[in-house]
Amino acid sequence: MVHPTAITVAAAALLAALPVNAGLYSKNSPVVQIDARNYDRLIAQSNYTTILEFYAPWCGHCKNLQPAFEKAANSLSGLAKVAAVDCDEDSNKPFCGGFGVQGFPTLKIVKPGSKKGKPIIEDYQGPRTAKGIVEAVTDKIPNLVKRVSDKTLEEFLAGANDTAKAILFSEQGKTSSLFKAVAIEFKGSISMAQIRNTEKASIALFGIEKFPTLVLLPGGPEAEGIVFKDPFFNKETMVKFLSQAAEPNPDPAPAKVKVQKAKDSEKKKEEFESASSKQAKAEASTAGASATDEVLEEEPTESPLPIVDAEKPIVLPDPAPPLSVLDEDELIAQCMGPRTGTCILALLPDSPNEVAAAAVGSLSEVAHRHHTHKRSQFPFYILPQKNVGFEKFKSELGLPIGEIEVIAINAKRGWWRALPKDGTSVQETDVSEEAIERWVDSIRLGEGAKQKLPEGFVPEEPVVEEVEAEPIVTEEGTIVEPVEEGKIEIEETVENVHDEL
Ligand SMILES: *[C@@H]1O[C@H](CO)[C@@H](O)[C@H](O)[C@H]1NC(C)=O
Ligand SMILES: *[C@@H]1O[C@H](CO)[C@@H](O)[C@H](O)[C@H]1NC(C)=O
Repeated sequence: MVHPTAITVAAAALLAALPVNAGLYSKNSPVVQIDARNYDRLIAQSNYTTILEFYAPWCGHCKNLQPAFEKAANSLSGLAKVAAVDCDEDSNKPFCGGFGVQGFPTLKIVKPGSKKGKPIIEDYQGPRTAKGIVEAVTDKIPNLVKRVSDKTLEEFLAGANDTAKAILFSEQGKTSSLFKAVAIEFKGSISMAQIRNTEKASIALFGIEKFPTLVLLPGGPEAEGIVFKDPFFNKETMVKFLSQAAEPNPDPAPAKVKVQKAKDSEKKKEEFESASSKQAKAEASTAGASATDEVLEEEPTESPLPIVDAEKPIVLPDPAPPLSVLDEDELIAQCMGPRTGTCILALLPDSPNEVAAAAVGSLSEVAHRHHTHKRSQFPFYILPQKNVGFEKFKSELGLPIGEIEVIAINAKRGWWRALPKDGTSVQETDVSEEAIERWVDSIRLGEGAKQKLPEGFVPEEPVVEEVEAEPIVTEEGTIVEPVEEGKIEIEETVENVHDEL
């Protein structure tokens, strides 16, 4: 038996090892920790937009915000910065006071201004959800990409004659956040343009055959255009490609010491401390997360990503985890609800052949890779023949019987599309990992034709029988809808952010 003293000693040691007054965000959090010293270098000098949270570790609303804020940070990764400052730290108090922070959490969007190191700062007062934050921030990503047409192409090419240029030929008129971010990486060194597929003369001039196509014109009189060949359009691959012509910018900016005026900072600290301690006292007396935060209503917490248990994993000699197999209810809940986002489904016949096995293997690899790199959050599932939905898909979408079929469906937006076939039969379909990855990427980027789902294909929303999830009527009489299981925003968000290149 272990002596009780030993346990006490161990517990004391453990407590001593814990950091005192730890901030809300861990070292591994996607949220960047900011303090008074590194703000200038990491944020004010950056060419990227940042959303900055001012918080105190004891504040209930701040704790409630944490998961959504981290989710937003993951979605915005590479596109904008998501940062937080612990205003309870003594050394940060003048800094927080300097921003006029009067309650926690306070969220501000810091957008690069026209003068270097002098950003434009606005309050964020939108919903404290990952979706709300991501939408507001993506809206404020600086757009350095010129929209060029047949009429303006010549002017664009002649301008700043010897600097490098890059042109994205796209089916989209709008510039995606992804391409905006790529342009930010090369601010000052590569001029970026986007040309739509409807600009026939430009398309012909460059001999563009598919969309999107990215062409780099390295500059100088005799330089020839280089076409981006990687099938994967993501930030890393595009930045690497463009680095042939110029170095990407060094973000964060190189270190430089900046001293704040002592008197000024002391005054701000005092003012801030009195405001801050008021909220701390109020929170303490009302047991945590209550009505001390007056700016915004309490939000229902978001439900975690839906996880469907794999009941019958397809066993393949494959390191990626097997795809989840959908039963009838899960099919409705994950992919066939009036509000479900994009799902990738493999319609797997009872007796799969080699092609089917290969397709499932490729799909699970791609799904695994997407999951680990947080690239896209489309869920990937297997829809087995025994699921009644299988026959419905086959007959109503006119898919061949007896073969595997890989499709993407978005019930909310009413479209579907199948993995393209080279011939008429799936036997001629390229089911390699590369082909599937390319296809999934094209969905993510909003490229390629979608088909409309037949009328009535998506079942009407069932009447909810359980009474557990009743709307919450707050004191003010407003009704807060309960969060529905499986209806989460992240997939939608990511699609919005990273698509439409
Ligand atoms: C770029 O400038 C050089 C010299 O200034 C000139 O010879 C050349 O024709 C220009 N190229 C274009 C495409 O305007
Ligand atoms: C921001 O862009 C400028 C070019 O306009 C560049 O010189 C600078 O290095 C960039 N800043 C950072 C932090 O990347």
